[in-house]
Amino acid sequence: MCGIIGYTGVKKAVPILLAGLAALEYRGYDSAGIAVQENGLKVVKTKGRLSLLREKLEHATHLQHATCGIGHTRWATHGEPSDVNSHPHATAHLALVHNGIIENYAQIAAFLTERGYTFLSQTDTETAALLIDHYYKEEKEPQKAIFRALQMLRGAFAFGICFADYPDRIYAIRKDSPLIVASTEAGALIASDVPAILPHTNVYYRPEEGVLAVLEKAQVSFYSAAGKQVQQKTERLDWNVEQAQKGGFPHFMLKEIHEEPQAISRTVSAHLKDGLPYFGENFPTEVLKSCRAIHVVACGTAMHAGLIGKRIIERLCRIPVRVEIASEFRYRNPILEENDPVILLSQSGETADTLAALRHAREKGVPTLAIVNVNGSTLSREADHVLYTPAGPEIAVASTKAYSVQCALLYLLALHAGLARGQISAETVREICQKMQHEVPESVEKVLEMNDEICGCAKELTDAEHVFYIGRDVDFDLCTESSLKLKEISYIHSEAYAAGELKHGTISLITHGTPVVALSTVPALAGKMLSAMREVAARGAMLLTVTTKQIAAKEELPADRLLLLPDIDELLAPFPAICAMQLLAYHVSALKGLDVDKPRHLAKSVTVE
Ligand code: M6R
Repeated sequence: MCGIIGYTGVKKAVPILLAGLAALEYRGYDSAGIAVQENGLKVVKTKGRLSLLREKLEHATHLQHATCGIGHTRWATHGEPSDVNSHPHATAHLALVHNGIIENYAQIAAFLTERGYTFLSQTDTETAALLIDHYYKEEKEPQKAIFRALQMLRGAFAFGICFADYPDRIYAIRKDSPLIVASTEAGALIASDVPAILPHTNVYYRPEEGVLAVLEKAQVSFYSAAGKQVQQKTERLDWNVEQAQKGGFPHFMLKEIHEEPQAISRTVSAHLKDGLPYFGENFPTEVLKSCRAIHVVACGTAMHAGLIGKRIIERLCRIPVRVEIASEFRYRNPILEENDPVILLSQSGETADTLAALRHAREKGVPTLAIVNVNGSTLSREADHVLYTPAGPEIAVASTKAYSVQCALLYLLALHAGLARGQISAETVREICQKMQHEVPESVEKVLEMNDEICGCAKELTDAEHVFYIGRDVDFDLCTESSLKLKEISYIHSEAYAAGELKHGTISLITHGTPVVALSTVPALAGKMLSAMREVAARGAMLLTVTTKQIAAKEELPADRLLLLPDIDELLAPFPAICAMQLLAYHVSALKGLDVDKPRHLAKSVTVE
């Protein structure tokens, strides 16, 4: 999704804006631009990668002394990626960058057309820029103009705005889209996300919705719609610049997969007390004890982590769990019984659909719990309760370590609920927690050591057009995530199937050489998996069998390629298994020479519907 950066201060703005945009590249974009104050507002923007913007700016030497400006990476929603549709959008009075969607842009365009405005681009954003321009001409004052325009705008937005008449100032405001504001000795900044400001500070404001931030070189002030100055709280993030960099790895995705052992162990340690799961004094254990069902709502990889959560909660607590895609949940009028909690999972805590699902659940008055990775994100602030997954920044678009820690936290929740409901003894819970703290990270380390072997398997998939993942029980859930990982970064079509379901239709697609990845980590179902593997092998499939040493020791498994996962308590097998599958997808993409961290059309944080 779009990325916003802004700087006003004593330093040169162009390098700060470019570095900020580079730090936001992970969000996904198709064009980029900046506007700086240098004898009036000057805009430079282009379709394509930041390198193209850099090239254009090298020729714009007259802008190099500017000390105030805004920048943007655009992820197209309204209008194709093009120079003219790129942000900033400028008028004679102002330049504006936007993250979000103006839902009533057509109505605003009609309003402006009646007043003599014409449009250069096909974007919804230009209507916002022109609307503020219209009110600026009436009010002759930025603050009043912005608030008057906001009364008309519907949808989601974070805006950064510079006015030509105020060459040292940036105005910024948000509704349903992320925006942070920071003040340092060398100047003030706005950004869509923390990595963009980390080289300058790790302390920032996250302005409340509808509060206008006015940034000047030496200060930041906040105003309500009534024009009153208001205070905003600062937040601090304990991430450092190195954590947000590649640290010697060729890609963020590979670095983040390698961080899984520590991330899992940190997540578990952070939520244990006396060897048992502990989530703080205010945690609603009573709800988990008495509820009749649990809803887990999320998108993409986070939703797949929810599927693993369902398995473990249902197994350990015997509470029915319904996992739902957030974009479906919100429009379906789901049946939410009083006291049945809704758990929202999200790495970013800013995903628009997950946020809307949370708001729907809150409107219905049921307890809500957010599990998020980003401190202070909107989801974490709006949910009744929040648990953090201390995975550190996840920059690659393909989510990896966030998935593993979400699973780890869901395991702890299941153990906590199982204990509270008397389904499982404290002794057993302690034993599993102990294993999660030590044996799980160790087993994931062992998978990381299998890197070359996994890369060898990946070579078999690089030319494939279709790949099928098959598994049963929890392995099927792992296959859904493995398949998503492969398709999003390698552009190979892939599907996950419950192995027993193949023969009810899909097996007709298996022909000579069709790659099938068969995942088998559940000993009780190994025999059933064996039958499915034989069935696809008999039809000529190229079989990549992924199983545990323990299962392989008992069965003669058909396999063109065999990956043996380290043995671990069966309950905990998903952790090493998913690490292997993530590495497999990573290597296919890297071997194909694709942009692993920034796959086409995708954004890290999906802040529009
Ligand atoms: O930030 P979130 O966890 O809410 O994001 C949800 C999905 O957009 C995200 O997991 C997406 O599916 C990833 N690209 C998958 O790798």
